[in-house]
Amino acid sequence: MAILIDATRQVLIQGITGREGIARTRLMKDYGTRVIGGVTPGRGGSEVEGIPVFDTVREAWDKVGTIDVSVIFVPAPLVKNAALEAIDAGIKLLVLVPDRVPIYDVLEITEAAERANARFIGPNTLGVLSPGKGVLGMMGGQAASARDWFFPGSVGITSRSGGMTSSTAYYLAQAGIGASTLVHVGGDAVVGTPHAEVLKLFQQDDETRLVVMFGEIGTSQEEAAADLMASGGFTKPLVVYIGGKAAKSGTRFSHAGAIIEGGRGTHEGKVARLRECGAYIADSFADIPRITREVLDKLPTVHPVSKPPKRAKTDDLHWTTAVTQIKSNEIRLRGYRVDELMGSITFSQAIYLALTGELPSATIGQLLDAIFVSSIDHGVTPPSTLAARTAASTGAPYNAAIAAGLLSINQHHGGAIEDSLRLILSALESAEAQNQSLETAAASLVVAYQNEGKRLPGFGHRVHTADPRTARLLGMADALGIAGQGVAMLRAIEAAYAELSGRRLPVNVDGAIAALLIDMKLPPELANTFFMMARLPGLVAQVHEEKTRQRPMRAIHPTDHEYDGPEAR
Ligand SMILES: CC(C)(COP(=O)(O)OP(=O)(O)OC[C@H]1O[C@@H](n2cnc3c(N)ncnc32)[C@H](O)[C@@H]1OP(=O)(O)O)[C@@H](O)C(=O)NCCC(=O)NCCS
Repeated sequence: MAILIDATRQVLIQGITGREGIARTRLMKDYGTRVIGGVTPGRGGSEVEGIPVFDTVREAWDKVGTIDVSVIFVPAPLVKNAALEAIDAGIKLLVLVPDRVPIYDVLEITEAAERANARFIGPNTLGVLSPGKGVLGMMGGQAASARDWFFPGSVGITSRSGGMTSSTAYYLAQAGIGASTLVHVGGDAVVGTPHAEVLKLFQQDDETRLVVMFGEIGTSQEEAAADLMASGGFTKPLVVYIGGKAAKSGTRFSHAGAIIEGGRGTHEGKVARLRECGAYIADSFADIPRITREVLDKLPTVHPVSKPPKRAKTDDLHWTTAVTQIKSNEIRLRGYRVDELMGSITFSQAIYLALTGELPSATIGQLLDAIFVSSIDHGVTPPSTLAARTAASTGAPYNAAIAAGLLSINQHHGGAIEDSLRLILSALESAEAQNQSLETAAASLVVAYQNEGKRLPGFGHRVHTADPRTARLLGMADALGIAGQGVAMLRAIEAAYAELSGRRLPVNVDGAIAALLIDMKLPPELANTFFMMARLPGLVAQVHEEKTRQRPMRAIHPTDHEYDGPEAR
């Protein structure tokens, strides 16, 4: 999960044909956000970045379907009209990017949003970004930098400064800490979704384990966040930095909202109140990554699958399932309408959703696609292919021949993915339990395997010395920001082996897939099913070829066998 934006939300852009509208549409689209339309009065019928432009929000809704979010890029005096139009059309989340929106207009938008049960972020906001899932507004500037700077993880960020939202996430990422969602609440004195409201959303988000709040002097946003903690409405750890320590009463500190008036909203007052309510205070901005790491390390370890499935009682004859719900004219996979998912997400994303219950980001979908492509087929010699083709040559129907192939995927063929995944997980667990670096834990593991004379699953290949699929998968995981502890440990084990034995035992495709499944939070027991799912189309192709190109009852390797049993007796 993530808050406010993910890969499924359908996004509209008001003011799409303006200078910023065009530039940021490119950012959002390239980052994987589902931008489905834009609105500029008088420009209906045109396109921006291949996205259709409409004259009104209602027309856009009628033509492209449900709109979950509208991002507004129209000049400040026109924001009120644009926002009211979006709320009136039924959009429940707005992001108001412009600065200098008149405060009375903001109050009117607030009232309309409350009436319609809608929410808005901003005004004067850089927007919202969920790493690897989507971005609303201007956060990251361009998709390439947004991908470079941030990676997915368990820390939520809420900030009153746009630049510091990105900087906080950037410095956390440099320290190896990923983010769930970055929210810039906006720099004005009145904003639609202040810190406390963002904290309530993070409280509900399973993915977020800790929140970093970048506060400022002025307004009562930080005090409200402290009150929320005191009332038990926010119970996750909160790391806080408050800017403006040196500002004197009456001076405005950068943003319109950052001003101390009549002794209210001071730095000291905010820090004292938050500390009293249990927040971790960073005195200097540079301390945020260290404090965050220390607090995260104290939290209980989470297993790859966050929620254990509910077990049915043995005497319960009533079937329950959390996978798919069927009603008349409505099919829902893990809560999502299948007809809405169709054409919006990839098959790989749907597989992830079916298996884990969570809709993955577009980037996870891309990486899963690559995994499936990497293992789709590997010639006629693998045991599963031989089994499938042999069965097919006997006249077995497709289902039987393909099943023969699938039944041949076991510990010694395809099974290395799960073994490798468990190997990497055990090395990560021992690094954590013994407070060791990844390199030290990897070296101990390699020594233990060498002493027992065991093979390292996921390393070395009977044919390839540098499996081309491995480099591609790991390169993609780095580029997409998905490579995490799993990939780091895989590389540490490869390096430790080379160092200790004096020869290279390169990672093979099973090892690469194993590490990526860890970093995509997929459970070990499903590891080999990814190989089965990947190989299924290859087996179908092989069986089809056998049936259509070969004579039945084919003699496979007719000369390459001999009898070495007892002599005639
Ligand atoms: C909002 C803002 C980004 C617009 O800047 P811009 O893109 O340069 O402005 P433009 O005039 O080129 O484009 C605005 C577009 O909105 C359109 N527009 C006006 N009213 C509209 C409405 N009700 N609905 C939809 N579009 C509307 C205009 O027609 C124009 O499109 P056009 O150029 O095709 O005619 C700018 O005014 C602003 O506030 N910038 C600061 C943003 C910022 O720093 N935020 C805080 C970050 S921390």
